[in-house]
Amino acid sequence: METLIKSWDGEAIVSRFDQETSTWMFIAIHSTALGVPTGGTRLKTYPTPHDALFDAMRLAEGMTYKWAGVEFPRGGGKAVLDIPESFDPSQREGLITRYGRWLADLNGIFETGPDLGTTPSDMALIRRGFNGVFGCPTDLGGAGDPGPYTALGVFSGIRASCEQRFNSLDLNGRSVLVQGVGSVGRPLINLLLEAGCDVKFSDLDSARIDEVRGELGLSFVEPEAVYGEPCDVFAPCATGGILNAKTNPQLKCLIVAGGANNQLEQTQDGEALHQRDILYAPDYIINAGGAIYLLAVENMGWSVSKAEDRIVEIGDTLKDIYAHAEKSGINTMKAAEELAKGRVKQAAQKKLAEI
Ligand code: PHE
Repeated sequence: METLIKSWDGEAIVSRFDQETSTWMFIAIHSTALGVPTGGTRLKTYPTPHDALFDAMRLAEGMTYKWAGVEFPRGGGKAVLDIPESFDPSQREGLITRYGRWLADLNGIFETGPDLGTTPSDMALIRRGFNGVFGCPTDLGGAGDPGPYTALGVFSGIRASCEQRFNSLDLNGRSVLVQGVGSVGRPLINLLLEAGCDVKFSDLDSARIDEVRGELGLSFVEPEAVYGEPCDVFAPCATGGILNAKTNPQLKCLIVAGGANNQLEQTQDGEALHQRDILYAPDYIINAGGAIYLLAVENMGWSVSKAEDRIVEIGDTLKDIYAHAEKSGINTMKAAEELAKGRVKQAAQKKLAEI
């Protein structure tokens, strides 16, 4: 962990071990330059606490650029609750409640919302003792699950990417493979079907697989066959790190555009896709819809329809990034980084000058 922290350019790491459940809790604060660090709380079992911390750090960095990309006044942070394999679901309420109390004790250095493995009802437990939480259930006055709004942004991004790649906005007949049919992938499928896409999907959870296969009659791709499956658009909507030295050479898609965070295992994987002429929609740009929705509706007083309009504009941001990448002869991830990092750097310098 020493090496991990040394190699990171973030601002702080806060950690705590929950004795009752043997859960490592990490909050990674990557940047306060643009505002209060804000990002989801992820709950899952990692191979080691080292992996959990690493995930939190990388996800926090992604949040910095996500907020910078949409020009919302928030900084980058993320929390990870690394539950042990033996975790008993009956312990969940206690764990989340203690986590919420911890956030309150930290005096708002980090604000949070739902992410992979957490739900609006978890957010309601946190809110009992801490106000800095987004995405509580709608019947409790919160904005609810951001997943459908992330999906809306991803859909707009897929449209923009198809326009870039095929010179046509029409999605009718395009084949799209959705990896992961959870809170983002599932609503994304509905939008794609409405637009006339030929949708295939993959997932690891048998209940979800049965549901999507049964209800929608979509063809299922075995998890190991996902990367080699021919399609126009591959939409990763599950975990990160799936675009790497092993999977990139297998890809038979023309576009990668999905909702997962940290899709590239390493920076050079973005270049590898570029070399193979696969158009990559930078993850923290295309998946910002949920973040826009939560902040806009719960914090900035926007109506849902104003937030939706802003989310659809993600497509335009992507088009700008693609144009910049083309003009400068760089890969799309690099182009997104230049945009987002530039904004963070400017804000950090301004802060320094004010001291
Ligand atoms: N976890 C989601 C994301 O990464 C949504 C979220 C955004 C949650 C901001 C909390 C705060 O975008």
